[in-house]
Amino acid sequence: MMTEQAMLAQLQNSLSPHRFTHSLGVMETAVRLAKVYLADVPRCRLAGMLHDCAKGLGQSDMLKLIERQGISLYRGEESYPGLLHAPAGAALAKEQYGVSDEEVLSAIRKHTLGAPQMSLIDDIIFVSDFIEPNREPFEGLEEVRKAAFEDLNRAKVLCRAHTARYCEQRGLPVFSF
Ligand SMILES: [Fe+2]
Ligand SMILES: [Fe+2]
Repeated sequence: MMTEQAMLAQLQNSLSPHRFTHSLGVMETAVRLAKVYLADVPRCRLAGMLHDCAKGLGQSDMLKLIERQGISLYRGEESYPGLLHAPAGAALAKEQYGVSDEEVLSAIRKHTLGAPQMSLIDDIIFVSDFIEPNREPFEGLEEVRKAAFEDLNRAKVLCRAHTARYCEQRGLPVFSF
């Protein structure tokens, strides 16, 4: 695996400044939540840092990565380019950043839609992505931020409801697995 410094340099090179700042925010938020919920801090830090690492790639590159790394997609997921950066991110973290830790890869893979089975680390990254300090404000964000440090599961439920509303408003399918 690369050093953290090398990873950050590579990440900064492959993302827009806005997306890179967001990634740092998710990394820091994930560390704070990991301390509250006694999760593995280095894993949360790494997953938070790299969760959007594939965001700068085009659709065909993402699909190639996913196929090469044998990551299975949810039904319908391949039709929505905006969703592919999560499975592609797990593939890229493995292939280009040398991450082999399955718990870290799982959190990256599940960060956008969630999944039927989620670990504590998965939950922390999922929620951190919503509440990091640089996040564009949305209705209910302050409530999620507060809930995140008191009741992670409630925060997750609020995030999922927000995602479902977002999808409904745009005529996208709501993934409920
Ligand atoms: Fe993302
Ligand atoms: Fe993100």
